[in-house]
Amino acid sequence: METVHLKINNIPVEVPQGYTILQAAKAANIEIPTLCYLKDINCIGACRVCMVEAQKDGRPLRGLLAACVYPAEEGLEVFTNTPAVIKSRKTTLELLLSNHNKKCLSCTRNQHCELQKLAAEYGVDEDRFPSEEPIYEIDDLSPYIVRDNNKCINCMRCVAACKNV
Ligand code: FES
Repeated sequence: METVHLKINNIPVEVPQGYTILQAAKAANIEIPTLCYLKDINCIGACRVCMVEAQKDGRPLRGLLAACVYPAEEGLEVFTNTPAVIKSRKTTLELLLSNHNKKCLSCTRNQHCELQKLAAEYGVDEDRFPSEEPIYEIDDLSPYIVRDNNKCINCMRCVAACKNV
């Protein structure tokens, strides 16, 4: 099996060719936050929470990379917690929350919510981009799923899970 060698936060990592940066980071026990990624089910790079900074041959790559879809390349140097990365994640979370019903205390997922956890971790200002009032009816026609689109962040995990599992 061919392998690639890269560094994540200055730690040398060797992984099989074809791994993403996220998989390489997991293999090295380095945490990169995700929302839309669902192992083996949904890997579409939609939410942009997993962004990282990288350089190759001493030169920074343009823009941030979505770790869940960008391949781990030979010689890549990845940084998961730079000021630019943290600012990007915080803004992304603020934008996601701008279109989100934020009645967390009465939500059935309160304290078990990945978005809520990340928002707290990144010190998100939930009112930076003021949101509209909830506009969607709750869809509980299915015996299996209650769907509240006022809380949807377009991660597509529910779609992928229904389609693929
Ligand atoms: S987890 Fe990578 S873009 Fe959503």
